[in-house]
Formats: sequence, C-alpha cells, structure tokens
Amino acid sequence: MDDLKAKYLSAIADAGDESTLEDLRLQAVGKKGEVSLKMRELGKMTPEERQTAGPALNALKDEINSALAAKKAALGDAALDARLRAEWLDVTLPARGTARQGTIHPVSQVWEECTAIFADMGFAVAEGPQVETDWYNFDALNIPGHHPARAEMDTFYMHRATGDNRPPHVLRTHTSPVQIRSMQEQGAPIRIIAPGRVYRADFDQTHTPMFHQVEGLALDKDLSMANLKWVLEEFFTAYFGTKVKTRFRASHFPFTEPSAEVDIQCSWENGTVKVGEGDGWLEVLGSGMVHPHVLRAGGVDPDKWQGFAFGMGIDRIAMLKYGIPDLRAFFDSDLRWLRHYGFSALQVPTIRGGV
Ligand code: DAH
Repeated sequence: MDDLKAKYLSAIADAGDESTLEDLRLQAVGKKGEVSLKMRELGKMTPEERQTAGPALNALKDEINSALAAKKAALGDAALDARLRAEWLDVTLPARGTARQGTIHPVSQVWEECTAIFADMGFAVAEGPQVETDWYNFDALNIPGHHPARAEMDTFYMHRATGDNRPPHVLRTHTSPVQIRSMQEQGAPIRIIAPGRVYRADFDQTHTPMFHQVEGLALDKDLSMANLKWVLEEFFTAYFGTKVKTRFRASHFPFTEPSAEVDIQCSWENGTVKVGEGDGWLEVLGSGMVHPHVLRAGGVDPDKWQGFAFGMGIDRIAMLKYGIPDLRAFFDSDLRWLRHYGFSALQVPTIRGGV
C-alpha cells in the first residue's frame, strides 16, 4: 500500500495537464484501478486482516482523490494565469485604426467651451457628487421638506436598507448643491462654475432623466444684479460669437432673492432659431442674488458678503448653438449622429482660438 501511495502521489504531482490527471485517476481509483482491485480482495481476507486493511485502503483512496482535486485546481489556476499573460493588453497605448474615428460629443464640447469662457472671467471649476444628500440638494438651498419645489423636481431617491440611519440620498436634481459645498470649502470671496450631470424622473421629447447643467456662483463685498447681467451677456456673446441681448424676467427660486429668469434674443425663421438677432426671446437660465439662508448654510456671513448665482442647461445651449433638433438623440450613442454632430479631438475650445 505504501508503494501504491508513493507511486500515485508523485505521478499526480508531476502531471502536466488535465488529461494525464484523468488517466492517473482511472489507473488508481477507477473501476478497474489498482486501489479498487485491492479493495475487492478484502473479501478474501480473514476478519482480522480486513479490520486493518479496510480503513487503510479507504484512507489511501481518499488521499489520492484529494491529491487529484488539488492538482486539478492548481492546473486550472496556472492555465488562467497563462491566458491572462498571453492576452495582456496595454490600454495606455495610443489609439490606432478605427478608434481614431471617434468624436468629441457636443455636450463635452460645450462643457469645455463654457469652462474656457468663464475661466477667462476668473471663474474656477468646482465639482460635487452626483449622489447627494437631501440636505445639500434641498435644505441648504432654502428648500425645506414641505416646499413644493421638492415635488416639482421629480427627484430620484436612493434606496435605503431598513435600519440604515445615514441621511437620505438623492440623485442631485440640479448643480446648485455645489454652491454650498464650494462655500464650505473655500468661503468668500469666491467665483466658481460647476458643470455636471443632473437627474430628474422625466422622459419625453424635450426631457431626459439625465441632463447637464452649469452652475455659477460669485460672492464678494458689493456684487449686484448688474454684475450678473454683465457676466451673462459677456458669456453669451463669446459663446454664440455674436452680440446677444438678454432679458431679465422677475421669477422665484427659493435659493435667490431677488430671482430672475433670463431670456436671450433670437429670431424664428421657417422653424429655425437664430440667436443674437430678431425680436423673439428664448429662456435659457435661472439666476438671482444668493439668499442669506443659503450663504449661512455654506458658512458665509450674509452681513459681510453678497453675490449672484445662476444655473443653465448645457444640453439646451448646445442644441441652440449647433442646430441639434432632438434632445433624446444626445444619449442614443448612434454612431451616425455622433459623426455628424461630434467634434474633432484636436478642436480644443480656447478663448484665443475662438469657441
Ligand atoms: N437650480 C435651478 C434649476 O435647476 C436653476 C437655478 C436657478 C440655479 C437660479 C441658480 C439660480 O443658481 O440662482 O432649475
């Protein structure tokens, strides 16, 4: 029995592949294997002999079986390692061939254009999380629990396990919570924009459940609505490449006082919109003077600092500038659409080069 054990354990250890291993299994513990034949001899033994030989043979069989299983697992691991090594791929290599036909999405392009124009006016880019607490998304912005704006926003609430007592989280419904985070991090004076993704449970021809906004916030000792109007007209003129008049309409947002909705000048001819001419108006953003409650939530003293904020739809202004008719097509990933409306990766928007 010791000879059998030594023979099979060393053969199993030396096996180089699974089929060798299977042959060894048959030879040792298969129906006609050596160990199985020995077990059949038990019947011819005296009861005393059987009492020692029986358990010993069973133990041998178990030992060979577990050596076979361990070797099989080791061969499998080695095969996977070899395959991973053979299929290794350096994803940092520059793209070749078809990859070069990719284009920059209009949303990315406009995002960069906004960043370039506002950077030129001294605005830094700030960021915040897309999964936001309801305090940052609502309360800190002066939208308490009972406020109708909460219902109007078609908010996506994150699922909570029972007993989870962390604060409730939502998919942010606007980029305004970044105002609060930026004030908390940097205090005043401050000048930031916050481009990013936002989410609302709304889907039809002019709404997608995810879209993009760019938020603006400027705080200093004596900023006013006049500064807001200058900044926005400067922005639209640079963005559309032509002088654009704005119209401020009194409105209401919980986070600003006073509040204004801003329209830009446009003309409508045979169903197409042209910005910067004519006597039509198109609503493009919400804005106002930051509410004292909001300043306080951001840790800024409203007796010392004041300023303006605005929020604008990136997708919306991309459609206007590049004549893109359907919002939903932005997120269809249709290659024909992307090739038509996309931009070359080398066409990086800069103030110097023109946007
Ligand atoms: N957060 C608003 C929205 O998503 C837009 C907005 C309005 C942002 C006025 C502002 C603001 O910063 O001052 O509808």
